[in-house]
Amino acid sequence: MLQFSKILRVWYANNARLLPWRQTNDPYKIWLSEIILQQTRVEQGMPYYIRFIENYKTVADLASAPLDEVLLLWQGLGYYSRARNLHKAANQVVEVFDGKFPDSHEKIKSLVGIGDYTAAAISSFAYNLPFAVVDGNVYRFLSRYFGITTPIDSSAGKKEFAELAQKLIDPKHPAMHNQAIMEIGSMVCKPSNPNCIECPFQATCFAFNNSATNDFPIKSKKTKVRTRYFNYLLFKENELTLLTQRGEKDIWQGLFEFPLIESESEIDPEVITQEIQNRFPLSKFEIIRTEKIFKHLLSHQTIFAKFWIVKADLKQLKIKDSKIVSLDNLKLFAMPQLIVKYLKNQQ
Ligand code: ADE
Repeated sequence: MLQFSKILRVWYANNARLLPWRQTNDPYKIWLSEIILQQTRVEQGMPYYIRFIENYKTVADLASAPLDEVLLLWQGLGYYSRARNLHKAANQVVEVFDGKFPDSHEKIKSLVGIGDYTAAAISSFAYNLPFAVVDGNVYRFLSRYFGITTPIDSSAGKKEFAELAQKLIDPKHPAMHNQAIMEIGSMVCKPSNPNCIECPFQATCFAFNNSATNDFPIKSKKTKVRTRYFNYLLFKENELTLLTQRGEKDIWQGLFEFPLIESESEIDPEVITQEIQNRFPLSKFEIIRTEKIFKHLLSHQTIFAKFWIVKADLKQLKIKDSKIVSLDNLKLFAMPQLIVKYLKNQQ
C-alpha cells in the first residue's frame, strides 16, 4: 500500500498545479479554500478565495465582519448556506477556541459546515494528520482502479471507500498524499475522456484493462430529472419586444426572459391562444409564427421550450417586473443560455 502512495506522490510532484492554498499551512486559509471549492471549480473559486483573504486576513477579521458583507463577497458562487456557515464557524473559532483555529480532527469537525471531507482536508493539509480525504474525485479514481461495484451513494459504499482510502494513505505523507489523490482524480481520471495514457496506474487499473472507465463509479440512485415545458411569448410590436425578470425559488434567478407560460405537456396554438387571452389584458393579438421545439438540459431538469411570436400592443401588457426592449438591445440583458441559443439561431 505504501507503494501506491509513493506512485501518487511522484506523479503529483511532477504534475501538480500551483494553487495558492497549496502554498500555505495556515488552517484558516485552507478551510476557506475548501469551503469555496465544495461546489465550485478551481478557476471559478480562485478570485473569490483571493478576495476573501484580502478582505479578511484572519479568522477573527471574518468573524467580526457583518454577515451582509460576507454574503456580498460570496455573490455569484451560489449555495449561500456555505457563506453563512463560514461566518458562523469563524465566530465559533473566536468564542470557543479563543481565536486560534483548532488543531485536532475532532475539534475541527465540531465547527459548523465541516463534515468528514473538510475535516480530513484541513487536518492533513494544515497539520499533516493522517486522515484520508474522500471526495468525488477520489470515489471515481478508486472505483475505477479497484473495480469497486458498491454504489458510492450507499452507506456500505461510503464505509468501504473511506476504509480503503484510509488504508492507502502513507502516515508519513498525509498532506501530499491527499492533494495527490484528488489531483489525479480531477486532472487525469476525469469523469469523461479520462487521460489514461498519462496515468501512472494504467497497467494495473481494473477499468482501463476492461475498457470500462465509463461504468465507474456506480451509483444506486439515478438523479431524478424533471421534465418541463416552457412556452415563451415573444411579443412583438415593430422592432420592440418585452422582457420579464425571473424571481426567486426557481432556476435562473434574476435573469431576463420573454413572458413565460409553463404547461404540463406540449401545447398547440388553440391552447396557447386561450392562455394568452386568460392571462393578458390584450384587446387584440395575433400569433404570427411558432418555432421548432428547443430541448435544453440542466443537471436536474430537461426543458422543452417553444417560442411563440405574437404581434401585440406592448403597452397593453401589464406584466410585473417587465421592460419594453428593442430587439437590437437584447444582448444587454443577462438571459438563460436556452434563450441566448434561440436568439443566435434567428440571426
Ligand atoms: N478541490 C477541493 N480541494 C481542493 C484542493 N485542495 N486543490 C484543488 N482542488 C480542490
